[in-house]
Amino acid sequence: MKNQIEQLKREKNAVILAHYYVPHEVQEIADYVGDSFYLAKVAKQSDADIIVFCGVQFMGESAKILNPDKKVLMPEPMADCPMAHMVADGVIEEMRNTYDDLAVVCYINSTAALKCKSDVCVTSSNAIKIVKALPNKNIFFIPDKNLGSFVAKQVPEKNIILNDGCCPIHAKITAAQLQREKQSHPNALVLTHPECEAEVVEMSDFVGSTAEIIDFSKESSCKEFIVCTEDGVDFKLVTDNPDKHFYYPNPHPCCADMKLNTLESVLAVLEKEDKEITVDSDICKGALKPLERMLELGK
Ligand code: 13P
Ligand code: SF4
Repeated sequence: MKNQIEQLKREKNAVILAHYYVPHEVQEIADYVGDSFYLAKVAKQSDADIIVFCGVQFMGESAKILNPDKKVLMPEPMADCPMAHMVADGVIEEMRNTYDDLAVVCYINSTAALKCKSDVCVTSSNAIKIVKALPNKNIFFIPDKNLGSFVAKQVPEKNIILNDGCCPIHAKITAAQLQREKQSHPNALVLTHPECEAEVVEMSDFVGSTAEIIDFSKESSCKEFIVCTEDGVDFKLVTDNPDKHFYYPNPHPCCADMKLNTLESVLAVLEKEDKEITVDSDICKGALKPLERMLELGK
């Protein structure tokens, strides 16, 4: 299957992008594997005719918005991020009416329609930098309350208003689970994604995006780590650091939607070119602005 995928990729001038949470065999055949910010930059710069995006809906959608003239395929278009929808109807408008000097900051894990209503997008690796750079005092941070509250602590000069959304996978990691791992591995450093709950973040030695967690563990002289994020990162962590040990909260955090991407579905979509991502042209135009502003401010 891997050979067939390689051959089709060459014949069709296609490029495969994959997030660190997809199954390891899919990461292996991808041309680019990374966190959300890196993948958005790669999608923007790609000169391939076809982009195959192995991730969840908002990622494929963002790639399409950044490349409206390209064919963006997803092996599993039904793979969706539940958090991307967690903003109640009318709440953005309500906030805009309540605060004069307001910026709506939208985590990239969001629908294109929500991006349209926002001033700037962010990912977990650039949110602090971008929020700091905004001229506005009041920030309505959607949809993730956990990333929002992490940013609020790092940028106390801003009034950050949180929205009631979260990642169901990261939110399930509890302080008690982490405490048990810490007791079993007293020498391990705790590396945590900011989508985790505040009490888990507070118990951590390092907080960052998937790529930042991977970079940190590589550069660290420590040999043991407890990793509080989706367990797909394990493939890269173990490949980069064969001499180090990585532990996860029990049960392992696992995003079922990310795991829908398989070698079979990548091969099928390359053969048939049938699962194309489309975005309404007005929504596409509206969502492009906050995404481009993110790429500019996040540089
Ligand atoms: P990053 O890879 O940008 O850290 O994002 C994590 C995530 O949950 C993507 O869905
Ligand atoms: Fe969404 Fe959480 Fe899955 Fe990431 S891990 S895609 S935030 S549900």
